[in-house]
Amino acid sequence: MQLFILQLLLLFFGVVVIRAQQPPQQVTVPLNDSIIHNAAIGSGDLQHYYFSAGSTSLFDRRRSLARRDVPNLFLTLTTCSQPTPPPNYEGDIPSLDVFVSISNDNTLPGPSQGLLVNNTKFGRVAWENDNPLNDLWIGVVAPTLTENWNGNWTFEIAVSTEEWVHPLLLDQNNIPYMTLDDTDQTHALFTIDPPSNAQQHNSSILIVSNIPKQLLFSRCAANSYRVADYATNFTDTKRGHQALVSNLTAATQYTAYYIESTNAISIPIRMHTKRGANCRLVYNLGFCDQVAYSVAANPNDATDSIQTQYDDHAQELFQPFATAIMQYNCDSTKYSLVRNCTDCYNDYKRWLCSVTIPRCTDSIEDTTEPTINAGGGQMALRQIEVNHSRNPWIDETLAPGTYTELLPCIDLCYQVVQSCPPFMEFACPKGDLAALQYGYWFKSVVSGQQEDDYFNDSLAVYGVNHPTCNPVGLEETRLVISEGASLLLFPRNPITSFIMAIFVLFVSLFL
Ligand SMILES: *[C@@H]1O[C@H](CO)[C@@H](O)[C@H](O)[C@H]1NC(C)=O
Ligand SMILES: *[C@@H]1O[C@H](CO)[C@@H](O)[C@H](O)[C@H]1NC(C)=O
Ligand SMILES: *[C@@H]1O[C@H](CO)[C@@H](O)[C@H](O)[C@H]1NC(C)=O
Ligand SMILES: *[C@@H]1O[C@H](CO)[C@@H](O)[C@H](O)[C@H]1NC(C)=O
Ligand SMILES: *[C@@H]1O[C@H](CO)[C@@H](O)[C@H](O)[C@H]1NC(C)=O
Ligand SMILES: *[C@@H]1O[C@H](CO)[C@@H](O)[C@H](O)[C@H]1NC(C)=O
Ligand SMILES: *[C@@H]1O[C@H](CO)[C@@H](O)[C@H](O)[C@H]1NC(C)=O
Ligand SMILES: *[C@@H]1O[C@H](CO)[C@@H](O)[C@H](O)[C@H]1NC(C)=O
Ligand SMILES: *[C@@H]1O[C@H](CO)[C@@H](O)[C@H](O)[C@H]1NC(C)=O
Repeated sequence: MQLFILQLLLLFFGVVVIRAQQPPQQVTVPLNDSIIHNAAIGSGDLQHYYFSAGSTSLFDRRRSLARRDVPNLFLTLTTCSQPTPPPNYEGDIPSLDVFVSISNDNTLPGPSQGLLVNNTKFGRVAWENDNPLNDLWIGVVAPTLTENWNGNWTFEIAVSTEEWVHPLLLDQNNIPYMTLDDTDQTHALFTIDPPSNAQQHNSSILIVSNIPKQLLFSRCAANSYRVADYATNFTDTKRGHQALVSNLTAATQYTAYYIESTNAISIPIRMHTKRGANCRLVYNLGFCDQVAYSVAANPNDATDSIQTQYDDHAQELFQPFATAIMQYNCDSTKYSLVRNCTDCYNDYKRWLCSVTIPRCTDSIEDTTEPTINAGGGQMALRQIEVNHSRNPWIDETLAPGTYTELLPCIDLCYQVVQSCPPFMEFACPKGDLAALQYGYWFKSVVSGQQEDDYFNDSLAVYGVNHPTCNPVGLEETRLVISEGASLLLFPRNPITSFIMAIFVLFVSLFL
């Protein structure tokens, strides 16, 4: 009998001891409003969280809801790190799943019960409710891994009654927060277009390298892949707000984000610094104020004068046009229902700058930038041999040697035809000649398994950040002419004049 009691006790304590050693599976962690909770989770585990809107009465929040017309609970989970797969593992690293329950009938949501949150981007899960509510139960599930994986997932989880604690800065009205203008060996130039209230949020640029695809939308992950020793300089220019990142490493792949002090992060931009030294970023030109890209430069001449030299040359070439348009009575002669002389002036100037200041990039063999070739498009690259620049002035004055040009978009030429008075008889080349001098704008159409393609480590997507031709700041909506389109939209007028002769001469300079 005594022995039996002893055995019973042993069994009892044994169970207690075993329970104390294993992390209790059923513990539910209460979350505080808008406070980030950091946690780690191992293979196959399920963790539970609970949020109660608590002191703020539902009635008050309903009222404020009616005012703001937004949901009243915002849940986010961002993955900060993930396990390391065994060597030779080739698949994707699986991600955490989040389940929610809004009913106290189910306080332990998980794979067998509850709602799987499906608003996910790599490294970020978000959920908001449709109707005001007080209580939210959350289950976080880690995939089950085999033995030879190493480490756990770590993550941040937060619920707020006010706003997203981990905001994702999505493009609004198709205007991206940040656009990559171009890179050279050690710099990257961005145009920043945040909504007006962003200045208060200590915004900056975060440059990371080697961030795993699965963590791309997570601010805490991005922070830990930040590269060392780069500098960012924000300035205001005629193009808008600009950020120059310097001190980068040549021929390297990076990911760039626009960030705010509120934990907010923009969608990632893949970028590569250039391999070659004869492409140099120029920006803030006085005359060609839309030029913000790498230009052909002499690798042995590190002076800054190249910017001024190109700009002065373009301004000089602009003079005959300036004279011509002044002699034309713009105010009284309406030649188009949609365009006027201001448009003509701007579009001509943009075109002139694009052909006078060639955009330089790595050669196709050297390129560090493989791209998704959806829609049949490709980058309009032209290898320029020594002393064979389109404009001999470049070789005579700047001696850039061999370089690869990203040709101007043909739309730049057609915009001039459309915007300028017909008497100027401006015409764009056709057929083979067009293909030799201009490129076509292509945008990768990424759909279906979108994110997988989009963030494939070895690919970038054609579009504003990775143009197939040089748009020189032309709005995307005006970049419409594709290779297949008819180029005979604008028949010539049989008018001749002295001014026109100048143009024919001048246009032919660039043929
Ligand atoms: C919530 O706040 C309480 C009181 O400040 C604190 O004890 C608790 O650790 C917090 N919980 C979390 C998950 O941060
Ligand atoms: C995501 O979940 C919502 C609500 O459960 C559902 O209506 C929607 O169809 C789901 N979307 C996808 C892509 O599964
Ligand atoms: C992973 O988490 C488990 C508990 O879930 C812990 O025992 C283990 O030490 C963690 N491993 C690492 C590498 O952090
Ligand atoms: C911005 O940064 C400054 C200095 O780092 C800090 O004092 C200020 O509180 C920050 N502002 C916001 C809105 O985070
Ligand atoms: C540039 O990088 C070097 C080391 O690579 C570092 O010593 C230097 O401080 C950096 N400069 C800036 C402005 O960050
Ligand atoms: C930032 O750029 C502006 C304009 O290019 C320049 O005048 C200024 O010196 C730069 N600031 C730093 C810290 O490099
Ligand atoms: C030309 O048209 C634009 C709109 O397309 C307008 O903003 C501008 O004021 C016009 N300029 C003149 C000189 O009429
Ligand atoms: C290019 O032109 C420069 C000066 O006009 C000349 O010195 C140089 O030898 C030329 N190079 C080649 C490869 O033709
Ligand atoms: C990325 O794309 C390349 C080319 O399409 C493909 O071979 C590779 O498997 C893709 N990688 C991933 C991780 O999807």
